[in-house]
Amino acid sequence: MNKKTISSEISHFPVMLSEVIEASLPLKGGTFVDCTFGGGGYSEALLSFPNTKVIALDRDNNVVSTAKELEKKFKNRFQFYQSRFSQIDKILKNDIDTIIFDLGLSSIQLNNLKRGFSFKSKDKLDMRMGLSDFSLKDAINNLSQEQLKLIIKILGEENEASIISKNIIKARSEKKITRVDELVKIIEKSKRKNLSKKINPSTKTFQALRIFVNKEISELVTGIINATKLLKPGGKIIIVSFHSIEDKIIKYFFKNYSKNKSKPSRYFPEEKNENLALFEKYTNKVVKPSIDEVNTNKPSRSAKLRYATRSENKFVYPSSLVQKFKKYLEIEAINV
Ligand SMILES: C[S@@+](CC[C@H](N)C(=O)[O-])C[C@H]1O[C@@H](n2cnc3c(N)ncnc32)[C@H](O)[C@@H]1O
Repeated sequence: MNKKTISSEISHFPVMLSEVIEASLPLKGGTFVDCTFGGGGYSEALLSFPNTKVIALDRDNNVVSTAKELEKKFKNRFQFYQSRFSQIDKILKNDIDTIIFDLGLSSIQLNNLKRGFSFKSKDKLDMRMGLSDFSLKDAINNLSQEQLKLIIKILGEENEASIISKNIIKARSEKKITRVDELVKIIEKSKRKNLSKKINPSTKTFQALRIFVNKEISELVTGIINATKLLKPGGKIIIVSFHSIEDKIIKYFFKNYSKNKSKPSRYFPEEKNENLALFEKYTNKVVKPSIDEVNTNKPSRSAKLRYATRSENKFVYPSSLVQKFKKYLEIEAINV
């Protein structure tokens, strides 16, 4: 496995790299989009095949220097844009062979304690991946108890969202909450009775708050719709995801908009489904990392890879995807 390094202490192992490359078929050449550049592991691996062209995006300003190095090394074959991937259709034109998403955070972001993603941090509440509208400090100190509860319960699937949100409101009525360790203490106090030895008590709340600050579900839904628009017939969309909400969305999209969708949908009123399906038959089961990878690269343990192949049908907006996951999108739309 290839370890990508920005500085000696901060590095990222690309998750399921060989599986992503196997699904991408770079030997044939073509245009590949890496929507989540991170440490550049996927981009660099794709560029090691001679007839490939790679366009990479990332919302994080901190990856620009690594991307510039690749631009120098692979002149005319690599281009980077700092952008959210929901905007992909504003940056790129049609006829892309493969579009890849490796969702969530990189270890480079997680291990930089100043950014406030890790519960080990004693720094300020931030959690912005980049190009985000507000920080965690704004959210924690401005949202109502009901709003915080909803975010923690639905986006974090945290059963104790009620007591956690209550204790956040109580603490901030005494003093503004500004640091990560202050929030960790509030969560630990709230969950004292149910402390699990297996997972850190803050895991689910932190997941919820990170998703909310970065509008990750809205990014995913808009990102995969807009990416599908750009793929050529036979082109592939490949997604590595890390939690159950993401996987539910991806699975629904690929299954319900593929040619093997059996029941006619009310969102496809006139023509036969087959003529409107965005993808060829969706047969591939979820691909998981090997035991070897899980042992050497712990963050890969929850990874799931799915891919689908674009059909020759014209693009029709997949409204049922947005309808189906409206609950998450509405929570992310809460104003801070
Ligand atoms: C798991 S890392 C990707 C690692 C990469 N595959 C590698 O091999 O190094 C995810 C990256 O995607 C970026 N990212 C997450 N959501 C994004 C979005 N909506 N738009 C653009 N970039 C995003 C993050 O900033 C992070 O750098």
